[in-house]
Amino acid sequence: MTFDRLETTLRLRGGHRLHGAVRVHGSKNATLPIMAAALLCDGEVIIKHAPRITDVSVMEALLESLGARVRQQGSNTLRIGAENIGQTRAPYTLVRKLNASFDVTGALLGRLGRAEVPLPGGCVLGTRATDLHEQGFRALGAEVRGERGYLVAEAPNGLHGADIAFRFPSVGATKNVMLAAVYARGTTTLRNAAMEPEVVDLANFLMAAGARITGQGSDTISIEGVDRLHSVEYEVIGDRIAAGTLLLAGAITRGTVTVQGTEPAHHDALLSALEECGVTCSVGERWVGVDATGTRSGTDILTAPFPGFPTDLQPMMTAFLATCPGTSVVEETIFNARFAYVNELLRMGGDIRVQMDSNAAVVKGPADLEGAPVEAADIRAGAALVLAGLAARGETEIAGLEFIDRGYERLEEMLTDLGAQVQRSSGIVALAESASSYETTTIPTVG
Ligand code: EPZ
Repeated sequence: MTFDRLETTLRLRGGHRLHGAVRVHGSKNATLPIMAAALLCDGEVIIKHAPRITDVSVMEALLESLGARVRQQGSNTLRIGAENIGQTRAPYTLVRKLNASFDVTGALLGRLGRAEVPLPGGCVLGTRATDLHEQGFRALGAEVRGERGYLVAEAPNGLHGADIAFRFPSVGATKNVMLAAVYARGTTTLRNAAMEPEVVDLANFLMAAGARITGQGSDTISIEGVDRLHSVEYEVIGDRIAAGTLLLAGAITRGTVTVQGTEPAHHDALLSALEECGVTCSVGERWVGVDATGTRSGTDILTAPFPGFPTDLQPMMTAFLATCPGTSVVEETIFNARFAYVNELLRMGGDIRVQMDSNAAVVKGPADLEGAPVEAADIRAGAALVLAGLAARGETEIAGLEFIDRGYERLEEMLTDLGAQVQRSSGIVALAESASSYETTTIPTVG
């Protein structure tokens, strides 16, 4: 008996230079913590420019499971009412799908004095530790313990301000502790805080709702406790990683691409790296452009917290470097297992050697990439395979589209607008013959 299942893949035909302008969607990594922050507000929250992606849908379901009311208004506006939440325990079935849902911990602790949230499991990027989150919660006066895979944080007498110094500028810990500190009695100072634009956007949202925050965007953020946050309407920033992905799609195809709806200041590290390769970059009022017709070499990359080179662009940059003449070294300093996608690039003809001892990849180019059936293992690995498929000879079919859909809204449409030959296709995939011959399992036929 064979088992069939419906699988949706992206099919690309490479070899076309991308040209033109495209507008990028709202930021996934700003929208998710701002949705969690809505739990702190005692009036309706309207979030505009939210991307229509599955990670946002999962966060919507999580907020509803906690008692919030969530409505979509049009395709990119969310209305969240958390006036009457009472549930402090987040369901494992939802949190396990989305590491970012751990952001609700700080909001629940700050609003209700208690939070029980499943610890983020490991993921394909490596360990997702939470010690810095716990350090911050304890400094604010919460009791924190692990219990059957959940983090339990309690502050029956409320939270108090604290001076907290992080050993590493963790994006997640900065967001979570900021959320918990909004209602703490007194002032909280976060030192060696993350400076990512998404952290700044979260702080700006909280201020629009009545919080008192200074220093966002620097490595020292101060939060003065207030009694309530009111209703607010807020538009999130453009997605700088999706924008960077589109710029790199232009670069890997040696085209000329402009991305609108993104802040040039969010892209300094990427643009500097591309210019070292001979790509001509230009910027303007909320737009960034690349002309890659003069690409002449690779370059070395070291990922780092903002404003350094973003780890989230590392896979896509590596795919681009595989097509550049010379030898490039890509060193990953944020996650300890973020080169799994390289195996798929090797299958397409890339010449990349991952050195496990130094968490670095040595990329030799230019590789004559050839289209192949490949599979995405996470959001940005999928994006890297899309870029490689755009540059490769022949057809590439990418499975694991559900990962790409977690982080990109209409990626194939944006690429098609730039001249790429890419389409979503669904088909019945006959899986391996069943091992068992004695058990009969009827599976629902695909409607
Ligand atoms: C955010 O993850 C992003 N996710 C990630 O984007 C991004 O790669 C990452 O920041 C770095 O920029 C969202 O914003 C939803 P971290 P986060 O806390 O918050 C270690 C994507 O593709 N660490 O800065 O988890 C941790 O183990 C995703 O959009 C501790 O050791 O990032 C990791 O190695 C992927 N202890 C490193 O820091 C802690 O308490 C980065 O984590 C917390 C983190």
